[in-house]
Amino acid sequence: SLGSATFTELPETHQMLKDTCRQFAEAELWPIAGEIDKTQAFPTKQVKAMGDLGLMGIDVPEELGGSGLDALAYAVAMEEISRGCASCGVIMSAHNSLYIGPLKYFGNSAQHEKYIAPFVDGSKIGCFCLSEPGNGSDAGAASTTAKDEGDSWLLNGTKAWITNAHQAEGIIVFATTDKSKKHKGISAFVIPAPTPGLSLGKKEEKLGIRASSTSNVILEDCSIPKDHLLGEAGMGFKIAMQTLDCGRIGIAAQAQGIAQNAFDTAIDYSAKRQSFGASISKLQMIQQKIADMALRLEQSRLLLYKAAALKDEGKSFTKAAAMAKLSCSETATFVAHQSIQVLGGMGYVSDMSVERNYRDARITEIYEGTSEIQRLVIAGNVLKEYGF
Ligand code: CAA
Ligand code: FAD
Repeated sequence: SLGSATFTELPETHQMLKDTCRQFAEAELWPIAGEIDKTQAFPTKQVKAMGDLGLMGIDVPEELGGSGLDALAYAVAMEEISRGCASCGVIMSAHNSLYIGPLKYFGNSAQHEKYIAPFVDGSKIGCFCLSEPGNGSDAGAASTTAKDEGDSWLLNGTKAWITNAHQAEGIIVFATTDKSKKHKGISAFVIPAPTPGLSLGKKEEKLGIRASSTSNVILEDCSIPKDHLLGEAGMGFKIAMQTLDCGRIGIAAQAQGIAQNAFDTAIDYSAKRQSFGASISKLQMIQQKIADMALRLEQSRLLLYKAAALKDEGKSFTKAAAMAKLSCSETATFVAHQSIQVLGGMGYVSDMSVERNYRDARITEIYEGTSEIQRLVIAGNVLKEYGF
């Protein structure tokens, strides 16, 4: 953990992890990121290589085959992977935070053995089904149902926008087991895929993170054994909220990586590009952009590390994770936008990665809670701190 360090430098192990992930991302992800953005091909080989590096079960205990690392390590690794390829970043984030997370914290040992242990080496991945066509931000309004049938649950409903759905062999699903109790009647389930009664919608055509799959997950009289319940019936909304607190650290780090990639490109270009007889980096208007981008990057990374450090210290980190997610995602869209400006025409074409960074950055202000929802969470926590 970062502990009470002054945020001036990472602990040695985390710095080593960062360096390893940077080398891997530059060698294995950068070269394919542009191509898979165009073809929308899922990076199976690269995800396996990420598994071999220990990144697909990063905070899973070593007894289950994971890397046993902390949230700060996760943040640092996620930033570097996303700096190389934002699609690989979201695949890694949805798998670690949203699929493994609820199993790790709320699953029993049999579920750990069956649904975590085989999922840590990059050969199998999972997904998380909370959103529905009719409700995304209002996650407590789930209309998917799970009916108690004695020795099984019968699931019906449609989940929307599910990252990794087309590759997932393990699926976390939230469904209402008691409608009268509203959000207190939501339960969480783990389902192996494929399973009879579970089907997938078409792959969505997306603006960015195009090599990750996104689709509906449709449940039609999908019967699953009783022991597929995660935690207890009615705990689902709490499980979802706590999972998203952790997930928002992952998406904050993904956004940070996208922003850093755009910034690095803009700095390099500004130093080399000549205009009016000198490098454009000498122009004060370009320097203002460089300063503003550097400031936003530094601010958001500090919030990211703080959220991770609070989690690692076992302290409440809901507000900090929302602040990190909000700050890093708005930094990513700002920095990608400004970087295109620094590159001029070259920023607008796909020969340079900033055009992709700009498209990839946009989603980070939408998924795992829109920027409006992060502000709701932050304000709610602030008011609570003041006793209101
Ligand atoms: N931890 C634990 N419990 C929490 C919590 C948290 N962070 N936040 C809320 N709760 C509890 C509350 O304490 C309350 O408990 P009681 O009923 O026992 O009192 C209960 O949950 C309801 O709380 P609220 O009244 O605050 O809930 P709400 O209905 O107003 O909704 C919300 C709150 C923050 C808006 C929530 O619905 C939310 O986070 N929405 C956004 C959904 C979202 O982020 N979806 C992401 C899907 S995954 C994704 O997108 C994947 C991807 O990136 C790849
Ligand atoms: P809505 O909730 O309809 O919101 C529309 C607009 O209204 C937004 O601007 C929103 O901020 C605003 N708004 C809504 N309520 C409020 C409020 N109370 N106050 C202020 N403004 C408000 N979901 C999953 O469960 N699993 C996944 O793996 C997953 N991956 C995704 C991948 C992609 C590429 C995308 C696009 C989405 C993914 N999602 C996933 C869904 C994502 O979490 C939702 O899109 C998001 O939470 C917003 O929900 P919505 O789209 O229904 O928008």
